[in-house]
Amino acid sequence: MKKHNYSAGPCILPQEVFQQSAQAILDFNNSGLSLLEISHRSKDFVAVMDEARALVLELLGLEGKGYQALFLAGGASLEFLMVPYNLMKIDGKAAYLDTGTWANSAIKEAKHFGETMIVGSSKSENYNHIPKDYSIPADASYFHCTSNNTIFGTQMKSFPKTNTPLVCDMSSDIFSRVIDFSQFDLIYAGAQKNMGPAGTTLVVVKEEILGKTGRSIPSMLDYQQHVAKESMYNTPPVFPIYTSLLT
Ligand SMILES: Cc1ncc(COP(=O)(O)O)c(C=O)c1O
Repeated sequence: MKKHNYSAGPCILPQEVFQQSAQAILDFNNSGLSLLEISHRSKDFVAVMDEARALVLELLGLEGKGYQALFLAGGASLEFLMVPYNLMKIDGKAAYLDTGTWANSAIKEAKHFGETMIVGSSKSENYNHIPKDYSIPADASYFHCTSNNTIFGTQMKSFPKTNTPLVCDMSSDIFSRVIDFSQFDLIYAGAQKNMGPAGTTLVVVKEEILGKTGRSIPSMLDYQQHVAKESMYNTPPVFPIYTSLLT
């Protein structure tokens, strides 16, 4: 009997994905080696990474539009700080929409880097709706929102039209609906809700917004480094990436 998990945490994955990924643990592509012991620099695994990154852009309709897809580690929670590290200008500010628990976690990390403006909030009504009628200051380095508020159950149906770079945490609704993804400059999502097991985070970023903060960024936290190394700056989490590709 197929059971469902209504608790916090990971999603249900298709049985055929489990079968194929389980087989890859035993013997990956008839190589005589497990996916877990083959080199991540091998032809077979590089092909997995390349296909996974390309498929993300294809599924989101972002091919050839200046975006890069990365599979990083550290969960969506690490993106809460990588976003301001990479996008908030020195002495700059960033605008956030406060729609619940995860938005708050993102706001908390941004405060380490500079002025963090909450331009709209539904906190006083226990986050029972998405705030409307807010404006985004023109001097904000970026605007951050959470497309689906996993705990409060609210979802953004539309996104502000703005010239400010638009950043969205899509951890719990990525690939669940068709929208115009080209309105976003950076999207991130932990794999475990909609794609695969925990351990990798999808980041889709428009390259032209990077490298503009004036701040020096440690390599592992620098999106430009990860782009330059085709998402293989260090040893990637091969199993969650392969499983996400199959899904
Ligand atoms: C919308 C949203 N953002 C961020 C997170 C945190 O993700 P992670 O556990 O990958 O850091 C979650 C986890 O449930 C989430 O639902």
